[in-house]
Amino acid sequence: MPFSHRFTLTQYLIEQRRRFPNARGDFNALVLDVALACKAIAGAVAYGELGGVLGNHDAQGSDSVNVQGETQKKLDVLSNQYFTRLNEWGGHLAGMASEELEHPFQIPNHQPRGKYLLVFDPLDGSSNIDVNMTVGSIFSILRAPKEVLETGRDVVEADFFQPGTTQVAAGYALYGPTTMLVLTVGNGVAGFTLDPNLGEFMLTHRDIQVPVDTHEFAINASNSRFWEAPVKRYVDECLAGKTGPRSKDFNMRWIASMVAEAHRILMRGGVFLYPRDTKDAAKPGRLRLLYEANPIGMVMEQAGARASTGEKPVLNVQPTALHQRIGLVFGSKNEVERIERYHTEPARSEMINPLFAERSLFRD
Ligand code: F6P
Repeated sequence: MPFSHRFTLTQYLIEQRRRFPNARGDFNALVLDVALACKAIAGAVAYGELGGVLGNHDAQGSDSVNVQGETQKKLDVLSNQYFTRLNEWGGHLAGMASEELEHPFQIPNHQPRGKYLLVFDPLDGSSNIDVNMTVGSIFSILRAPKEVLETGRDVVEADFFQPGTTQVAAGYALYGPTTMLVLTVGNGVAGFTLDPNLGEFMLTHRDIQVPVDTHEFAINASNSRFWEAPVKRYVDECLAGKTGPRSKDFNMRWIASMVAEAHRILMRGGVFLYPRDTKDAAKPGRLRLLYEANPIGMVMEQAGARASTGEKPVLNVQPTALHQRIGLVFGSKNEVERIERYHTEPARSEMINPLFAERSLFRD
């Protein structure tokens, strides 16, 4: 199809603005600045070794470590700079928060401030960078608290402690075989593919819907000994296949890049689990609430899927820390609801046939 027959991201936003009061002029400009940061990152990712961007970030002779205690890749640091530099000047933001920054990013004093907050993981799945596998950026747009707008004060961490239900927009960019931007402004989910010649995101996937049933699940099975009983039960039943209680065979996938798993699930269904586990008492889950679980959760819910802590909708969780971790389960609605049900039903030992327990691969 010639490009002139497709909507650009700008045209899509203008169309949304006509129909929905949420998407106004400065909001559109903010989304376009975020998209520009994603295009810049896509460019850097595409050059890989040629661009000298692979490997760990060197901070004065040694590897640098972010607030999560994770070694930063060069591309983590570069992607964070693209996000902050391309979004600090537009006058749409009161502040930003990033996976790579311990504290909120303040809009410089010489720049105008606006009414939104931008929260992002500039490069998710960064363990995949050096092996040329898919990575992505995840973002969430919130409204700045009224008091910040009235006083013009600097933002503080607590300003970002808003449940996922209050997000104005959310999405991600995926740097895979093609670069895609997936966006929700609270009116369904749209997918845009970057036309490398034009440098424009073109609308290629309108009103994405996740199938409610699936035979694919994604989980890091090496953590099975740390899982709680409802998760073990769910995975055991999937692995038991046709002869187990689910009476159908399942496939398992694990890319170790949550944004890539989310995209696969958005395109063809599936369920993703990084549940709360007992691996490290200081970490109730692996993924971060504000810039991973909430934006992906909003995209999923807007596409007819479900996003949960395992027990309740993740978007209802009241955040208490900027880099808070949480158990996350999302994807095809019927599977996520089943997992939630397993968390409320009586213990597994009272439920299942002992013969099936004998066959379990992930049995204690
Ligand atoms: O940000 C966390 C992340 O990189 C996710 O993208 C991914 O799903 C997960 O970590 C991979 O975890 P693991 O190393 O346990 O496979």
